[in-house]
Amino acid sequence: MTSGKIETQSTAAEVQRTGRNSLTVTDNRTGKTYELPITDDTIRALDLRHIKVNSEDFGMMSYDPAFNNTALCRSKITFIDGDAGILRYRGYPIEELAERSTYLETAYLILRGELPTKQQLAEWTYNVTHHTFVHESIKKFLDGFHYDAHPMGMLISAVAALSTFYPEARHIFDAESRQKQTWRLIGKMPTLAAFAYRHSLGMPYAYPDNELSYPGNFLNMLFKTTELKYKPNAALEHALDVLFILHADHEQNCSANAMRCVGSSQTDPYSSCAAATAALYGPLHGGANEEVLRMLLDIGSIANVPAYIKRVKAGEKKLMGFGHRIYKNYDPRARIIKRVSSEVFEVTGRNPLLDIALEVERIALEDEYFVTRKLYPNVDFYTGLIYQSMGFPVTMFPVLFAIPRTSGWIAQWEEMLLDAEQKIARPRQIYTGYEKRPYVPMEKRS
Ligand code: ACO
Repeated sequence: MTSGKIETQSTAAEVQRTGRNSLTVTDNRTGKTYELPITDDTIRALDLRHIKVNSEDFGMMSYDPAFNNTALCRSKITFIDGDAGILRYRGYPIEELAERSTYLETAYLILRGELPTKQQLAEWTYNVTHHTFVHESIKKFLDGFHYDAHPMGMLISAVAALSTFYPEARHIFDAESRQKQTWRLIGKMPTLAAFAYRHSLGMPYAYPDNELSYPGNFLNMLFKTTELKYKPNAALEHALDVLFILHADHEQNCSANAMRCVGSSQTDPYSSCAAATAALYGPLHGGANEEVLRMLLDIGSIANVPAYIKRVKAGEKKLMGFGHRIYKNYDPRARIIKRVSSEVFEVTGRNPLLDIALEVERIALEDEYFVTRKLYPNVDFYTGLIYQSMGFPVTMFPVLFAIPRTSGWIAQWEEMLLDAEQKIARPRQIYTGYEKRPYVPMEKRS
């Protein structure tokens, strides 16, 4: 949960003054006063239900469209302080993980809660690596897609299809089964993604190479042509690994929430993961880096940046890759990505759109519109430029996000399943439709 220092201090002062860690609410409709316990700066929404005008009253609810101020779970996985620009997985700062860890080690950390020992990491790597192959029928399934099918649509469908190949995955309370599906999902996501990419090019699928690293093998499955053994470029392999670390989890974002919500009906992890992938597809979430690139192409030159910003301020456009529900400061991932981009451009050559992006950032960070709204570059602002320079088409960008986020989704799903307080997710509504009215026969309708 995001912490707010001021609130924490005032709560502490309040407790000292009154000796009570609670919130007193007076219902002015009845004059009654209620005391609601506070835990972790939070009240329980269900406690509001005691607030009634009479015994027939359903009780008070809280109204929170888009969950702006509602904690849906207690979580030990990822900590974000959006005001300070802090992101940590299991307590470890993202900057240190990006510098010193690998994606597979970070995925283990996110899922298991601790960094692995040497032996644990070797076993984990072996198990994920030995689950990278997909059933041959998956290939036939992918072949059914139109030549220009969006790879994200193919990925969503292929992940959902995995549940039909592994029906035992529905035993979600069996820890051994969960473990196996975890290896499979993390192992097979890059394979499905690469196959979707090769299908769009009309190229034969390249099979996994178990001797390569996780990102190295992904590059192999994407780009291998006639060579007997594909050798990934070390700088690009490292850059991709860092990008995977940065995208591994981000607490209760839209797709993690989809994973938890669908999983809460006790569906199998492949179906839940397909739902999470679908949530990631949208342009306001994982589809944003694709939109950033389109936007930079649309701007076209540095000279056009001020006019474009003007249109954004007039409400005609959104500045894609800017703004975040949680970060009201520079997204710490964007800072690391900016550094990674220069490593990539040393190999691939400088992306000509970079200068437009830098100018957009420079102007926006000085502009009153963006400053007052605390709109800073988010993770997606620079990733598109890196991916494009590495040779990926824009349609692959959200796919490149879905691969590493799979570890976060599974961790969020497993935490939800093992949390005794969780049930099937089922929000309430405020009904604003008609009162009861009689059916109108066809001849009487206007
Ligand atoms: N460009 C211009 N104005 C913006 C932008 C933007 N990118 N983002 C927010 N604003 C403005 C809003 O219009 C609003 O202005 P107002 O107060 O005058 O009405 C104000 O800033 C607050 O914005 P909200 O919409 O309340 O912010 P919210 O938390 O709902 O939205 C979101 C967050 C969806 C990420 C938004 O900033 C956005 O659409 N950004 C562009 C898409 C993007 O980059 N998404 C990737 C997010 S990172 C990720 O998912 C991995």
